[in-house]
Amino acid sequence: MCGIIGFTGGRDAAPILIAGLKALEYRGYDSAGIAVAGKKITSVKSVGRISALEKKLDETTLVGDCGIGHTRWATHGCPTEENCHPHMSADGKFAVVHNGIIENDKELRALVRAAGIEPISDTDSEIVAHLLSLYYDGDPVVALGRTVSRLKGSFALGVLCADHPDEIYAAKMRSPLLIGYGDGTCLSSDGTAMPQSINEITVLADGQTARLTKNGATVYFRGRQVQCERTKLKSSRRAAGLSGYPHYMIKEMYEQPEAIARTISSECRGKRAGLRGTGVSLIGCGSSYNAALSCRPMLERVTGRSVDVALAGEFLYSERVPAYGRQCILLSQSGETADTISAAEEAKRRGYGTLAITNVHASTLTRTCDDYLCTRAGPEISVATTKGFTTQVAALGLLAGNEFAAAVKELPGLAEKALRASEGLKDSAVKFDNAGCVFFMGRGADYGAALEGALKLKEISYIPAIGIAAGELKHGSISLIEKGTPVIAVCTDDRLIGKSLLSIATVKTRGGFVIGVTSSPEVAAACDEAVMLPPVHPMLSAAVSVIPLQRLAYEVALRLGRDIDKPRNLAKSVTVE
Ligand code: M6R
Repeated sequence: MCGIIGFTGGRDAAPILIAGLKALEYRGYDSAGIAVAGKKITSVKSVGRISALEKKLDETTLVGDCGIGHTRWATHGCPTEENCHPHMSADGKFAVVHNGIIENDKELRALVRAAGIEPISDTDSEIVAHLLSLYYDGDPVVALGRTVSRLKGSFALGVLCADHPDEIYAAKMRSPLLIGYGDGTCLSSDGTAMPQSINEITVLADGQTARLTKNGATVYFRGRQVQCERTKLKSSRRAAGLSGYPHYMIKEMYEQPEAIARTISSECRGKRAGLRGTGVSLIGCGSSYNAALSCRPMLERVTGRSVDVALAGEFLYSERVPAYGRQCILLSQSGETADTISAAEEAKRRGYGTLAITNVHASTLTRTCDDYLCTRAGPEISVATTKGFTTQVAALGLLAGNEFAAAVKELPGLAEKALRASEGLKDSAVKFDNAGCVFFMGRGADYGAALEGALKLKEISYIPAIGIAAGELKHGSISLIEKGTPVIAVCTDDRLIGKSLLSIATVKTRGGFVIGVTSSPEVAAACDEAVMLPPVHPMLSAAVSVIPLQRLAYEVALRLGRDIDKPRNLAKSVTVE
């Protein structure tokens, strides 16, 4: 979603800001802008891609050593230049970039209007710029402190003040914000956007504000200066290039064997991170939910109890009476998904234990939960997650303990084989040219993989797709099957071959075109086409069976000429509820 970059460092800021915005593109955005402080604050904004912003920059002089930039994913108001950040205060004194949502926007808008200022955009963020100028009496840090004391909701703020053109001011509440140090000082919502000259970072905590100069930063909490830890900016936090691949999605797919191997061999977990308590709930959104669902049978086997799997956004409204000793395991690749963070907070309020499974150690989710287990997938740039999903399955396999240890160890090698087996799907993509709707069906762990396959296809090809438990098809959805409807049948569990054959026959009888993803030659023979997988433990199989589904989605989207790494309307990390 929205991304922030800021730089002050005794050299031209604009190119550094643009490079930072490009690194933030993967988060998803629909407009972008930068502001630079010179004799006055000047800004350039544009709807659409950063390349459009660059074109505008060619026609503008934006000179200054200190600036802020933003990629916006529209929430309050359409993607227009007026709504695009940075927002200026009416007197031109302040420029603001903002990630998050100001919940008391209406009330503050009225306050600003009462002071004689008419906002020009629909955004909650613009109001922050006006408040800063209203509360300003010469010290921008004081104005920022007064301003944030009026804000309800979540915010990461980057601010320029025309009176102090070498400084950036920052504030953080429930939305990530980092300060980077090196040759110059940087502000960003995301380590991947920091320039190469930055080698150390401070992760700001909720309630902190900061003043950044070219030589470093001073951090404040409730108006008092505080000392902050600096840590090395690991190269794994920086966005790697495409390394010759045409898209990040395919690059990240091929990184899966290594990413799974890292996740299971160099474990990164808190001291008490394990399965514990009287019952387990798995909670996540999108692919993280699908990964959790695919592992339910495994966790039910090891805990001997039924395991709940909940969508984070729905968990908030469940009427469950607090159960002493329940453990909630919250899965999130980014660790910044608003629904999942709110679910973790709600779980804590109800007195449950909380464990985060996330790919970003320094994330809000890790900090919110009692304990953590990190996947080691490395930065994931493609909006459509691939290695995020498979490493989550591997991490849940680690939690499942000894009974699954041998099967978990095999996953990297099996993922490698699945990648090779999937290469033939390039030729199958043609069958989807005129597909009205595509089905993905499976049972048990294969059902989680089927849901994920459908999500991948929808996300990047924009073809309607339905992930369905194979047994459910006959209860209604089968009415959509007609001649040529593509149906992907996932079957990795030998115990379910008989039932899978029946489902496949039912589809074929109605003219469906079935592509099998299976380790069973018998199932493969019953399908029109098949990807042969190596045999895999049926309770961990989603880490392997999902790989052909990712590849299929990729090939279909490629044929259709879609923007694979940045699909329309989507954001990499969804930081609003
Ligand atoms: O970062 P998270 O795992 O919390 O993200 C959850 C979903 O937004 C995410 O998995 C989304 O569904 C992906 N874009 C799917 O590819």
